[in-house]
Amino acid sequence: MTPEVTAFFDEATFTISYVVRDPQGSACAVVDSVLDFDYASGRTDTRSADAIVKFVQDNDLTVEWLLESHVHADHLSAAPYIQERVGGKIGIGDNITVVQDTFGKVFNEGTEFQRDGSQFDKLFKEGDSFHIGQMRGDVLHTPGHTPACLTYVIGDAAFVGDTLFMPDFGTARCDFPGGSSETLYASIQKILTLPDETRIFVGHDYKAPGRDEYAWETTVGEQKRLNIHVGEGKAKEDFVRMRDERDATLAMPRLIIPSLQVNMRAGNMPEPDEKGDVFLKVPVNKI
Ligand SMILES: [Fe+2]
Repeated sequence: MTPEVTAFFDEATFTISYVVRDPQGSACAVVDSVLDFDYASGRTDTRSADAIVKFVQDNDLTVEWLLESHVHADHLSAAPYIQERVGGKIGIGDNITVVQDTFGKVFNEGTEFQRDGSQFDKLFKEGDSFHIGQMRGDVLHTPGHTPACLTYVIGDAAFVGDTLFMPDFGTARCDFPGGSSETLYASIQKILTLPDETRIFVGHDYKAPGRDEYAWETTVGEQKRLNIHVGEGKAKEDFVRMRDERDATLAMPRLIIPSLQVNMRAGNMPEPDEKGDVFLKVPVNKI
């Protein structure tokens, strides 16, 4: 089964969102949507999400799923906004509870912040399957970048979130709380056991040395041959050393503080105060 995949690129956060469509009908899923956020002014904007809503409506699609590959630290999810307009169930990995526990503490959330994943419609675990129309999706738990990362394998297409990036860029960082380069290596090996012709759709692209165009589609075979971090059977120890050294040099993503607070709530803002105003916190010297 070959789903029709349409990509939506957000250059502000280098995120690729996808609409994945059953070629036999009108059912689709939206993977990793973006709610635009201007940190300086604290303002949200729905330009990116509206492009997806418009695409769904123009093509008479039925959104069955809003799939999150993980709790993103670099952009806010627009899943609830899209759900309100065109429906769909919001799904994420069941290890979201670990992420909620970690960041519930970092942001000193009160007991009203549930850490049981109940903000989401569906918690997926390794080996689960689901359907988009007649098309089957399978869930691989692929932690390492975060504890809750999933890869969604839908027909011949794998949506790998932040595990592998394009072969010339490599792999995702592993230095967020709960991240582990050893774990990511094992998860990547799991992805690379898929058939070589499996299409891989990555969660971000940043261009790469010698490449001045954004790109987001590759294959398992290409990753095995060409990925600069794990290709040609790179040994685990070499990968772990490289990844940890590189991560030590990386700055935090610009939107990590608002992203985590919103995305651990399935893309919802914290509860408004008694006047109806919404606030995000900035924990000092905590992240
Ligand atoms: Fe991420």
